[in-house]
Amino acid sequence: MTTRKKIALIGAGNIGGELANLACEKQLGDVVLFDIPPKENFAKGKALDLEQNSAIRGFDASVVGTSKWSDCAGADVIIVTAGIPRKPGQSRDDLIAINLPIIRDVADNAKTHCPNAFVIVISNPLDAMVYEFKRRTGFPKERVVGMAGVLDSGRFQLFLARAAGVSVKDVRATVLGGHGDDMVPVLSATTINGVPVSQLLPLDTIQGIVERTRKGGGEIVGLMGTSAFYAPASSAIAMAEAYLLDQKRLLPCAAFLTGEYGYKDLYMGVPVVIGGKGVERIIELSLSSEEKAMLEKSAASVKTIVEVVKKN
Ligand SMILES: NC(=O)c1ccc[n+]([C@@H]2O[C@H](COP(=O)([O-])OP(=O)(O)OC[C@H]3O[C@@H](n4cnc5c(N)ncnc54)[C@H](O)[C@@H]3O)[C@@H](O)[C@H]2O)c1
Repeated sequence: MTTRKKIALIGAGNIGGELANLACEKQLGDVVLFDIPPKENFAKGKALDLEQNSAIRGFDASVVGTSKWSDCAGADVIIVTAGIPRKPGQSRDDLIAINLPIIRDVADNAKTHCPNAFVIVISNPLDAMVYEFKRRTGFPKERVVGMAGVLDSGRFQLFLARAAGVSVKDVRATVLGGHGDDMVPVLSATTINGVPVSQLLPLDTIQGIVERTRKGGGEIVGLMGTSAFYAPASSAIAMAEAYLLDQKRLLPCAAFLTGEYGYKDLYMGVPVVIGGKGVERIIELSLSSEEKAMLEKSAASVKTIVEVVKKN
């Protein structure tokens, strides 16, 4: 019997596979790659490929592919990518009809088999899927969080670094709001190693980068015919690692709001501290009036899609 942590990845597709790879490389714990019965052999094959990688890369984690929820029992962390990704021309919200029953199925099984897990939802439309997962399981808000902001901020940071001709390591940026085309890159919290970005780049260049960031997911869907998976997986692993290692990292994540920023009963991207207790704190930034207006627009979009979830 191992004392290693257990990480259950629900969905063994593109993101699920990369999540498993990173969890193994970082030695975060043993990995279970779960998918539906028609994809069981695919999950088993991926798991075997990754486990054989342990001999070459030098990690001890076990990787199991399965379609049985009992294999996920007692997981410390669950990362949910179950569902379908976008195809060119689709919005994230177009996925709701197919992904809503899937997230409900996942939530019911997670509640039965992994009642104490810290849960990171990735499936789209993200803010609605994570809302439904929490509602359906009744898990505390500290233990259910959505991944979007780390990815969106990463995209923003990369584009800024390239435009400014500086290392991406020195760019700090945060993106708030829903995971949609009206997400809010917060310029007042965006610096290049402490230097306000407005001192290094002209405003119209920054505005162009904001637009590209907002459509950053769609740009990749247009090129590949399916969604991104390397950076989404890295983003969720950063969140899982912060929880498992009690790092108390300040990361933009979709968190359940109970009045913060003036919103409640809603999941939306805000800066949170993730540590061993899960979402330990939500940080309220002081926003400019323009940023507040953008956040309001983004919240309105999230509310619309959450209403669809509540009605169905
Ligand atoms: N939050 C974000 O920032 C972000 C970024 C990229 C993609 N996504 C979303 O993540 C999701 C997964 O993307 P992907 O590229 O890995 O897709 P994918 O199609 O490669 O993998 C999804 C997997 O989920 C499985 N699945 C379906 N129903 C299931 C169920 N009931 N239980 C368990 N597994 C089930 C499918 O069989 C498939 O293998 C999509 O909804 C996509 O839009 C979110």
